[in-house]
Amino acid sequence: MAKRQKYRELISQSFDFPQRDFKEEKGTLQWNDLPLMEIAEKYGTPLRITYLPKIGQQIQKARRLFNAAIANNDYRGDYHYCYCTKSSHFSFVVEEALKNKVHIETSSAFDFELIKRLEEKKKIKKENFIVCNGFKPQKYIDKILEAYNNGYKNIIPVLDNMDELEKYGTPSGTLNIGIRIAAEEEPKYEFYTSRLGVRYNDIVPFYQQKIQNNPNFKLKMLHFFIDTGIKDVNYYWTEFHKALDVYCDLKKICPELSAINLGGGMPIKHSLTFDFDYEYMINEIVTQLKNTCNAEGVDEPDIFTEFGSYTVGESGCVIFSVLGVKNQNDRETWYMLDGSLMNNLPDIWGLSQRFIMLPINKWDDEYKHVNLGGITCDVGDYYNSDAHINQVYLPKIKPGEKLYIGFFNTGAYQDTLSGYGGIKHCLLPSPPHILVDEKKKNEFTYRVFAEEQSADSMMKILGY
Ligand SMILES: Cc1ncc(COP(=O)(O)O)c(C=O)c1O
Repeated sequence: MAKRQKYRELISQSFDFPQRDFKEEKGTLQWNDLPLMEIAEKYGTPLRITYLPKIGQQIQKARRLFNAAIANNDYRGDYHYCYCTKSSHFSFVVEEALKNKVHIETSSAFDFELIKRLEEKKKIKKENFIVCNGFKPQKYIDKILEAYNNGYKNIIPVLDNMDELEKYGTPSGTLNIGIRIAAEEEPKYEFYTSRLGVRYNDIVPFYQQKIQNNPNFKLKMLHFFIDTGIKDVNYYWTEFHKALDVYCDLKKICPELSAINLGGGMPIKHSLTFDFDYEYMINEIVTQLKNTCNAEGVDEPDIFTEFGSYTVGESGCVIFSVLGVKNQNDRETWYMLDGSLMNNLPDIWGLSQRFIMLPINKWDDEYKHVNLGGITCDVGDYYNSDAHINQVYLPKIKPGEKLYIGFFNTGAYQDTLSGYGGIKHCLLPSPPHILVDEKKKNEFTYRVFAEEQSADSMMKILGY
């Protein structure tokens, strides 16, 4: 009879394993060296974990690679790392990012409440760049002006559209501004041009008519962001060069223009096969910026980025355990989770996002093909395809055994999109959330950021 394979063997045959952040010891998984099995048993499941040191590591890595590329290319501009708060607004995330000397990117009026509180705690400095994106209602504009008047002189509202300029009225000094370019979308979208930003051809005439001789504003930044992310593909480079051409055209008539903002979209690890070459990509960006500017005879701009997922995505994971096994027919086995995928990781449901999904224990057991079912009654609450094979394999479970399952690198957008702590599908509570700090004296320290959401908190929102 053929030898039955263990889960561990499946993984070692499918991937280079162990690998960055993931390894296995005594049949259990470690992520960033965290003993996940111990944590799951101590705090119960479902459980959210944020491994805070990862945030600083990511920021430092990007900064190191940009600075190296700047030095290698003899590039005469600086690099500024902004953190895009919408990817995770939690205080522990933003504070960790600020410890690593980032600037801030905002997307709405409430971001300024966050900045006010960070200021009270002396976590943010008035010298910080605050790049303000988005289509802005007057309340957002008012908050931008208020921050400017309170001393945030490096605030840069990025005009999403030409009408926005007038909403700032007459600021109390010369306000630095940016303009966002509306990129052409990838052909997979139903529309050609992004709704965000100003069309390429309108930018230079708009500058000449409304900004050039206007003492209230200085055009400092051109903003360019491709929603599908920074990738070494034709589409990205085509849009990138279109943006650079606009930059050079503008720079020739607007000497105070000094920055290009590449937005977000730096990819993160969503599969164990992920092998994005950050160093190559960053160097290529800097080289192409340099070459184009030199060819056009304009000074190289300072480079801003607003990485959200990249900053915080790889710091988060969610752990579930299998509550029960259902064999619905000869071929389909469902592992029923003790929480909802839809509620906790809404990108799975909304975008068919694949995350790294791995068992936490039982790596020495045989495996089988399964579907994972969330605990809501919704037919869409499931996960049945890993990024590399479009199927899910997990260790077999014998009666009475416990299997823990982790979804990794889930730290960006999932809490905000799922309305963390609000009301949830089937009234399932937000799970407890544990924060992990840097290992000291060979020990991790854990902090409970939030216990499981209480019924009272949900009932209050619902008006009971
Ligand atoms: C203007 C802007 N900047 C930055 C980001 C962050 O993108 P990411 O999380 O892919 O880095 C976004 C995301 O939507 C954005 O709209």
